[in-house]
Amino acid sequence: MSVYPIILSQTKFAHKENLNYPFEERAMQFGDGVYEVIRIYNGNFYLIEEHVDRFFRSAEAVKIKLPFTKNELTSLLNNLLLKNSLTTDAKLYLQVSRGSATRDHLFPADVDANIYAYIQDQARNTSALNDGVKTITHPDVRWEYCYIKSLNLLPNVLAKQTASENGAYEAILHKNGIVTECSSSNVYLIKDGIIYTHPTTKNILHGCVRMQVEKFAKDLNIPLKEEPFTVDDISQADEIFLTSSTSEVLPIVTVDDTQIGNGIPGHLTRLLQNAYENDIKTLTSNKVEQTS
Ligand SMILES: Cc1ncc(COP(=O)(O)O)c(C=O)c1O
Repeated sequence: MSVYPIILSQTKFAHKENLNYPFEERAMQFGDGVYEVIRIYNGNFYLIEEHVDRFFRSAEAVKIKLPFTKNELTSLLNNLLLKNSLTTDAKLYLQVSRGSATRDHLFPADVDANIYAYIQDQARNTSALNDGVKTITHPDVRWEYCYIKSLNLLPNVLAKQTASENGAYEAILHKNGIVTECSSSNVYLIKDGIIYTHPTTKNILHGCVRMQVEKFAKDLNIPLKEEPFTVDDISQADEIFLTSSTSEVLPIVTVDDTQIGNGIPGHLTRLLQNAYENDIKTLTSNKVEQTS
C-alpha cells in the first residue's frame, strides 16, 4: 500500500519526505487526538461530509480546537486529492493531536493542534466481499466514549490481533454478552427479515457506512431496529454482516466455530451490498479548484 507523495501538514501541502515530527508530541505520548479514515473510489471521496462532521464532533468532544471550518477542511482534502492526481481506489487518513509540548498530562497552553492527512492506495477486498469472512467474539474492554474516534486504539488493536491469530478477519466485541460493534467496524444481525444493530449510544462509533446502510435498508423496505443483540443470539441468526469505510458491507459467515445461516452470504446482505455498489457508482467528481 503506497502512500501518495503530497501530504497535508497543518493547512499547507508538503512532500512526505520533508516532514519532521517532534518526539514530544501529544498523539505519540498520550494518544491525545482524534482521526478519520475516508474512502476514495476512482479518485472521489465517499461520504466526505459525514466524515468531516464526525471529525469535528470528535475534536470538540476532546476539546481540541481546529484551525478551520468544515468547508475549509473539505476544500483542503479535495485539494490533496488533486495534488496527488488521484484516480484509483484509495483511503485518506486524517489526524489531529493536541500539539507538540513537553510531556505533561495537563493541556499545554498556547499550543497549536498538529494536523496531517495522507492518501494510501486501497484496493477493494473483492474475495472477502464475495465469500464473506470469519470472525471471533471478544470482550469489549474499551472506555465509555467509543463514539469519539480517538487515537487510543490499543484494545481494538489487541482484539483484532487475537482475531487474526485465530484465522479470523474481525473481532465482534461484547459487553457482558451484549454485542456493541467490531474492533474496526459496526456489526448487524438479521433474523426473520429484520436487521438488528446496537443503538448509537456512546458505546459505539457512529459509522458513516452504517448511516448509509440505514438509508439503503429504508429504500429496500428492510426493517432495521437499533436494538442490541447478544452473543447467544448469534447461533440463531439468519445473516450477520459488518460495515466500515474500508470493509464496505461485508458478510460474516462464521462466528467463533458457529456457521451463520448456510455458511454463505445471505440474501438481505447481498441486497445491501448491491445498494452500496450502486451508491459508489453514482460518485461524481467532487474535486474543486486548487486554491494553494
Ligand atoms: C470501532 C469502529 N467502529 C465502526 C467503524 C466504522 O466506521 P465507518 O463506517 O465510519 O468507517 C470503525 C471504522 O474505522 C471503527 O474503527
